[in-house]
Amino acid sequence: MNKQEILNCLFSNWYHLFRRHTIKSVVIPLPEDFVKYLQDDGTVVLPRGVVLPGATREEWDNEEEEGDSGEERSEEEWEENEDEEEGNTPEFTELMEEIGKSIENLSGKVFPKLGWSSPKDAAWIANNSLLCNTAGEVVLLLKSSDFIIYDLTSVFKLCTDVEGGVNIPHQLVLRKWANLVPGMEFRCFIRNKSLLGISQRDYKQHYEYIIKDKDKLAEEIHNFISDEIIDKFPSDSFVVDIYKKRDGHFWVIDFNPYGEMTEPLLFTWGGLSSGSLSTCDFYVDIKTADDVIIGQFRYTPYDVTMQPSEHLRYRMPQDFVDLSTGSDATKLIDFMRMKIQSDDVEESSDDEQWTLPVNR
Ligand SMILES: Nc1ncnc2c1ncn2[C@@H]1O[C@H](COP(=O)(O)OP(=O)(O)O)[C@@H](O)[C@H]1O
Ligand SMILES: [Mg+2]
Repeated sequence: MNKQEILNCLFSNWYHLFRRHTIKSVVIPLPEDFVKYLQDDGTVVLPRGVVLPGATREEWDNEEEEGDSGEERSEEEWEENEDEEEGNTPEFTELMEEIGKSIENLSGKVFPKLGWSSPKDAAWIANNSLLCNTAGEVVLLLKSSDFIIYDLTSVFKLCTDVEGGVNIPHQLVLRKWANLVPGMEFRCFIRNKSLLGISQRDYKQHYEYIIKDKDKLAEEIHNFISDEIIDKFPSDSFVVDIYKKRDGHFWVIDFNPYGEMTEPLLFTWGGLSSGSLSTCDFYVDIKTADDVIIGQFRYTPYDVTMQPSEHLRYRMPQDFVDLSTGSDATKLIDFMRMKIQSDDVEESSDDEQWTLPVNR
């Protein structure tokens, strides 16, 4: 894997080449201080002016009423508290406005990602969806995701021609929201400019129409990849995710490097790297127009037991979600009280570190 192969998969490097075959998107360059804010491992403090549905001043006042003092917070106290908070609250007014305007231009609903990865490991924080209507929702997802940190810090990790870091300006990508049917997404493995493998993207379920139409799908996908992708994409080996639309045309969803950092789904990297695929029970051949077999289209058979969603391991109990999004102010305040009490008991504790699993 070399650096250029990773750079070819950077969104802004391929979007203009495939604009005709992909979902309308906007690329917003990210200022350095916002990148630092995303990388800062502290609690999720949203930028000033960014509002999520959640704790309101009214709720806060109510909580105070039920508390020890029983008195309402005075106007001065409220302002004092706001002043204190200002010290910690980052401010990215221009960026937030730009995100807001771009969301409007993309019909009000977007799918956010950075140059390579989306925050799909953080979907648990937003009703298990990456659909965003506001800049606040975009920032919350980015800030809660380990995949986003991977994009910012480790994308070139497996490159053999990179020493130290690579300094590239980071980007936020907002894609117009599309209601994609998971069974119509396919991952295509192109090795030395030839389509070696196709796997259904959501491989944990069987899809009846895939099983029924497998030969036709293998042929259609092969035609699309040969006619529209292989000669236009600058790497010889790469992975491309595509989507078959209801009208029969294909969309490019994403490009990924040809290597371990990309999930092989129904294949293994052993076979994909060597180019010799083992035979398995559930595939049809990918053939050229003159009937030469060049690869395999693998699908999930009928009798597969239902398996949990790929991203289930990243989810959190609902109470944690409410706490972290502040959508339940009462729980948040209870949690903070508990935290203060336990901090009084034990000064410090290393095993209380609570981190998300990183597993790509
Ligand atoms: N514009 C969109 N609207 C809705 N869902 C999308 C959109 N783009 C991608 N997705 C879904 O999100 C998944 C991940 O998108 P992708 O861009 O490949 O991010 P990643 O590289 O993090 O996997 C896709 O497989 C698709 O199901
Ligand atoms: Mg991808």
